[in-house]
Amino acid sequence: MAQKTNAALPPGTKLPVHVGVIMDGNGRWAKKRGLPRKIGHREGAQTFRTITRHAKNLGVKFFTVYAFSTENWKRPADEVEAIMDLFEKYLDEVRDFIEENIRICFIGDRSMLREGLQKKMRSVEEDSRDFSAMTLLIAINYGGRDEIAHAAKAIAQKAISGEINADEITVDTVEKYLYTSDLDGDTAPPVDLIIRPSGEQRLSNFMIWQAAYAEFYYTNILWPDFRPEDLEKAIIAYSDRNRRFGGV
Ligand code: IPE
Ligand code: IPE
Ligand code: MG
Repeated sequence: MAQKTNAALPPGTKLPVHVGVIMDGNGRWAKKRGLPRKIGHREGAQTFRTITRHAKNLGVKFFTVYAFSTENWKRPADEVEAIMDLFEKYLDEVRDFIEENIRICFIGDRSMLREGLQKKMRSVEEDSRDFSAMTLLIAINYGGRDEIAHAAKAIAQKAISGEINADEITVDTVEKYLYTSDLDGDTAPPVDLIIRPSGEQRLSNFMIWQAAYAEFYYTNILWPDFRPEDLEKAIIAYSDRNRRFGGV
């Protein structure tokens, strides 16, 4: 879908509708400076604010950030706790986005998060639900495999209760039960562009269903060093790609 682009991008740049970012490299950023990993997460959170605003200013409509994976619980307890503390702090500050007409939704299994955090998540979602400049999806305790298993469970329950006929389950049925289709009445489209900083070239369980035809952009920059210009570079690279979706 062609959209009007911001002056920061060359004329004719094709904008991705949905951009996903795997915010990686916080730990290495801190280590390089001899600082504790949690300082890297603090810096990464600053970058999150700047880049989210820039995505909106460029005209991106859906922006998903991978903040904490279902596998990140394997980390030392003090690091997990520092990350959760940062979320709580940022959920207070994320309200600034509301002034910018950004709708905020969370994807992932929130039942395992602290009750206080869950409460703040719900209230941010409610307070921003009518905003329309951009939808920001924050993936917390998110895993693509968990999301698909969660959908399978919901579909199985419907089949048992007779609401769904097993023979009629299609790709569209599964899609309807993903976290990205449960945005309080709204649905995020498939992800067009996935950006992964820090030099790693893998999905790490991020949007594995939604990324079926996503374009990937990798950079060695560590997430805390990622600048608005780097987002522009990724979008320009995306714009030059030839997406065929299996056709010719
Ligand atoms: C990403 O940075 C943040 C989370 C996974 C929460 P990392 O903490 O993975 O940083 P590196 O990969 O160790 O540098
Ligand atoms: C992916 O990064 C998860 C987030 C950025 C939230 P990881 O650092 O956890 O991924 P791996 O372990 O390098 O694959
Ligand atoms: Mg990492």
